[in-house]
Amino acid sequence: MTNLTHEFLGRTFTSPLMNAAGVHCESISELRELQQSAAGTLITKTATLQPRQGNQSPRYADLPFGSLNAMGLPNFGLDYYLDFVSTQPANGRQLFLSVTGFSTAETLELLHKISASDFQGITELNLSCPNVEGHPQLAYDFAATKQLLQQVFNFFDKPLGIKLPPYFDLAHFDQMATIINQFPIAYVNCINSIGNGLFIDPQTDTVVTRPKTGFGGIGGAYVKPTALANVWAFHQRLESRIAIIGTGGVRTGRDVYELLLCGASMVQVGTQLHQEGVDVFARLETELQEILTAKKIDQLTDMIGQLQTL
Ligand code: DHB
Repeated sequence: MTNLTHEFLGRTFTSPLMNAAGVHCESISELRELQQSAAGTLITKTATLQPRQGNQSPRYADLPFGSLNAMGLPNFGLDYYLDFVSTQPANGRQLFLSVTGFSTAETLELLHKISASDFQGITELNLSCPNVEGHPQLAYDFAATKQLLQQVFNFFDKPLGIKLPPYFDLAHFDQMATIINQFPIAYVNCINSIGNGLFIDPQTDTVVTRPKTGFGGIGGAYVKPTALANVWAFHQRLESRIAIIGTGGVRTGRDVYELLLCGASMVQVGTQLHQEGVDVFARLETELQEILTAKKIDQLTDMIGQLQTL
């Protein structure tokens, strides 16, 4: 069987698979379950400076082809997650810490705290939460994103990735990639949920979640073509020093394989993890290994980004 052991940002992981931020990673007990699973590593729920309850329930719905969520960033606050990721055994997996601020000042404060901490893992700055009213997804504002990154990289020198929303226009891929290439960003994660979708319950003719009159981020099979396109677009535009994590619509080993082909070197699982639990990782790894073995691919690096065009 093809060995899935794999390098990302110069660190070794036993598998390219991990959870997507937000799914099965809010409490310490969920994080421990991830640690004991077959996932190569884990990422925490996106932390804000202060703990938050998030939006009113119902705020998550399973849909025929995925999910809709309007969680509103419920989390236990930065200190809770920073303590967890900083106190894992040194021989443990390299962990990821997801964070977001509600203003530039708050984002910089979060990153200063991480900078000053013992945390030696990888930080993911979420520039794309769609669910907090009055707070647009920052990475849809190109000038504001550039300004924020300028301030971040004035001082932050631990490995930092950014979580992007999906883009739908080739000009937008060009503009965002031009900005990202100007900074010492370790990786980009494509994609966050497709923001502000709507689903109507056929039994009741109502929306399915309470916040924001029913709008919510769409995940699962609905978003896979958009995820593939975003990974492939950034693979073609980013300097090779910048890695890509692929997220969106993974249900099978074939889905993982396709994100890797488009240029992802780690792959995150959200909706399917929510639906199946942490056993999803062992299943996906077996399915991926079967594909790689059948194709006589010895190591992941031989196929990452190797999608053929016509
Ligand atoms: C939430 C949803 C997201 O897609 C995200 O990136 C961060 C937070 C949420 O609603 O909690």
